[in-house]
This record gives sequence, C-alpha cells and structure tokens, in this order.
Amino acid sequence: MRKKLVAGNWKMHGSLVQNKELLDAVITGTAGMRKGSCVVCVPYPYLSSVQSMLENTQIAWGAQNVNQFSKGAYTGEVSAEMLKDFDCQYVIVGHSERRSLFGEDSHTVSLKFTASQNSGLMPILCVGETLQQRETGAMEKVIAEQLDAVIDQAGVASLSKAVIAYEPVWAIGTGKTASPQQAQEVHALIRGSIARHDEGVAADLTILYGGSVKANNAAELFAMPDIDGGLIGGASLIAEDFVAICRAGQD
Ligand code: PGA
Repeated sequence: MRKKLVAGNWKMHGSLVQNKELLDAVITGTAGMRKGSCVVCVPYPYLSSVQSMLENTQIAWGAQNVNQFSKGAYTGEVSAEMLKDFDCQYVIVGHSERRSLFGEDSHTVSLKFTASQNSGLMPILCVGETLQQRETGAMEKVIAEQLDAVIDQAGVASLSKAVIAYEPVWAIGTGKTASPQQAQEVHALIRGSIARHDEGVAADLTILYGGSVKANNAAELFAMPDIDGGLIGGASLIAEDFVAICRAGQD
C-alpha cells in the first residue's frame, strides 16, 4: 500500500535564524504524525543544521537538486554522496524551475535520478506542463517525454524507489491551483502510463501534486484517489500552514 507524503520545497529561502523558528514550530505541530510522512527539502548550506534539528524527530529532510556525476571537477556542484553524508533521504530532481531557468533537459534529469538512487536517496521526480502546452493539447506528450526519459534510462522498476510530483508549471507560485478533478485526471494518466509497463509499480507509486497547495485546499486535493500528498513551495515556509497540510496528508 502506498503511503501519503507531504514534502516542503523551501526553494532559495531561509536563514539560520528563520529555519530554527520554522522547524521548532513544525516539529511541535506535527508531533504524533507518522514518522517520515513529512519532509523538508532545504538549501544545501543548511543541511547540517537541519539534520541536527530533525534527527530523532518524525520529520525527514532532503535537498532540492543534485549533480548527476559522483565526483570531479564540477565547480559549484553537489553530489548525491555528499547529500547522504547529511543523512538526506530525499532529493527533488527535475523541478520546473531547474528545467526552465537552468536548462536541465529530461536526459540530464534522468541521470540525476539514477545518481540519487545509486547513493540510496529517494528522488522526487517533478513533471508537468506549461499553460501553453496544456492549451495547445501537448500536455500528455510533454509529461510522457519527461517520464519516459527516466523509464528508458533507469527502467520502470526504478520507480519503486522514487516519488513522482506532478506540478503544472502554471500553478507553481501563482496561486492558481489545479482543481482536484484536473489534478486527479493527470495523476490517473501518469499512473496509467506506468501501469502499461508494470502494474505493481504503478499501484504502489506515490504521486504528489504540487502547485499552490495551501492549508485550505490540501485536504480536497489529497482526497482524490490518485493524489498521494503534495510538494509544497510557498506554504512550506509558514509553520502553521505547513503543519495543516501535513495533517491533511496523514493516511
Ligand atoms: P508553490 O510551489 O507551492 O509555491 O506553488 C510548489 C513547487 O514549486 O514545488
């Protein structure tokens, strides 16, 4: 049985002082929730302090990006093994901001996916269409291309050690959430396309919805049959809201 998951994506936000305040409140607010059902993906420089604050709590932690190579002359980059040094469990790969602002194509994302798994990290693979792609009927093709790059490279079985996040680009940070029905439709499509390769993998796969999930819309999104939780940007920076979303994501 797949389990629900709520993952916070802090993006490039935070400071030592703010993180402590936020996490103190999140630790208290999520007391008693299932261990590992909430995750925060934080900027690299804070991994060490976040690890100290979260070890022995119910909250897991991870990073927002990783390099596809294991080591070498790649100035400014961070490897999956380095993330493991800080006991990260998760890493986001292929976020739309990485794809659109930093030129990551689906092949590079698939290499990052594999590098993460090779180091024992659980990749959160982001897929999703732009508004223009949706309006011109290209949505299915775009999402299939993003998924197939990983399936071709890593095999469908690799998805049994991964999470997928469906994030329509037009809903990220815009306050325009996909309706539960719109999101469900795409989640079912994603699960269906994976089921054509392997039904068992598809049935057990956690598929998160991301894009303007807030405290007041999380419960109805997460109630849909193929939505297994959320990837949360803006609202993960507000303790009260993130805790409420984590609560909505309990099984
Ligand atoms: P948002 O971001 O919740 O602020 O829309 C989601 C994301 O980018 O993962």
